[in-house]
Amino acid sequence: MTSGPSKRESGADSAEADEVVRAFSILARDSAGDWFSCFDTTPVTSSLVKLYARPRCFVYRFALTDGTSRRDVVVKIRHSHETLRRAERFGDRPQLTPQRTMSDRDSAGCEFTGLRQAAQAMDGADPERFGVLRALAWLDGPAGIVMEYVDEPTLRQLLERRWRRALVRRTSPSDEEQTWTALGEWLRRFHAADKGDALPPRMTRRDELVEHVQRSREFLLRAGAEPGPVHRLARTVAERAELVYPVELPAAAGHGDYTGQNVFVGPRGRITVFDPLPMWRVCVYEDLARLTMGVRLLGPQVMTHGRLLDGDLCDRWEARLLESYAGGGHPPAHELHLYQSLLLMDRWGELVGKRPARGRARQVARRVRVRAGSGWFEQQAERLTSLLN
Ligand SMILES: Nc1ncnc2c1ncn2[C@@H]1O[C@H](COP(=O)(O)OP(=O)(O)OP(=O)(O)O)[C@@H](O)[C@H]1O
Ligand SMILES: [Mg+2]
Repeated sequence: MTSGPSKRESGADSAEADEVVRAFSILARDSAGDWFSCFDTTPVTSSLVKLYARPRCFVYRFALTDGTSRRDVVVKIRHSHETLRRAERFGDRPQLTPQRTMSDRDSAGCEFTGLRQAAQAMDGADPERFGVLRALAWLDGPAGIVMEYVDEPTLRQLLERRWRRALVRRTSPSDEEQTWTALGEWLRRFHAADKGDALPPRMTRRDELVEHVQRSREFLLRAGAEPGPVHRLARTVAERAELVYPVELPAAAGHGDYTGQNVFVGPRGRITVFDPLPMWRVCVYEDLARLTMGVRLLGPQVMTHGRLLDGDLCDRWEARLLESYAGGGHPPAHELHLYQSLLLMDRWGELVGKRPARGRARQVARRVRVRAGSGWFEQQAERLTSLLN
């Protein structure tokens, strides 16, 4: 049975939400004993604690209890509600990752598989350094994933909190280094576990990558980005790609969204990676670039032109990540910088090419963000151009 208060944020259709709550309560009643040993013998009730409406999914947090013990779980249901998404200003923005090529149900299935693959890839790893987010069950009907609730901040939250460093106890520098080393090892294991041979390839050839950069360049200029830095970066990537990359890029099943917002950070920098969507065979530098550029392009970092995180600190974290990803081999710094250039152009395209789904205040906020943020994107473009030359 499901009981207790339900706190809903706007956007979730209430009939849909009721259906999820109902389907989950039946599943939990029958399966909670399999999920958690503390519920072995006693009947369990579930209650909705919170429902978050996000652009691409609803995240339900439920509490399970038998009156003595309590365990929380998350049910993630993907959706396609247009009103919760930002709209495109242009119909033909080149995107590194094409969106919505799968149904919500298939995407959820892919994430479910990804969570299981990640757990396998980390089999035998030090549990003090790597957490594993257990996918507990598949919820049928409203297709979704039941998983353990993790009560830890994400890497992105920790980084953004540095802004309020006087108020919040900071993570120690050695814990932070530990996190970046772990992120490299996690990805090395994940890529090694599945080379992606059964998946459709996406941009796994050098010429596709160069062509994508040219299309991004044209788009950015058309959308109003400052031409100088865009031209210089695109030209450098085209020239350097020949020297740095082989014709066939090293590829594997990608995490798909390896970013600071998809990593929980626990004690002593332990990481628990979640939200995988390994639906393509991609160049291995894509996940590395998405993570590192994601940090350099965090909202407060963009808006303050780099006052959130010192450039040298980002360089150090990146070096840790690469060393650990290379696992004793040569850290692929140039390869990463080239792919970071693609990522930068992709995120730049998003900045200038999207608008909020609704609301005049948000439109104004967007204009301010674009104006203030563009300078930081230009600086990042110049930084990468000089690193590659
Ligand atoms: N198992 C979990 N435990 C605790 N919190 C979670 C869990 N799963 C998701 N969350 C919370 O919900 C947020 C969004 O989850 P998630 O990253 O899976 O979805 P998303 O990024 O919105 O969707 P998408 O899969 O489309 O990228 C997380 O940042 C986290 O705050
Ligand atoms: Mg996510």
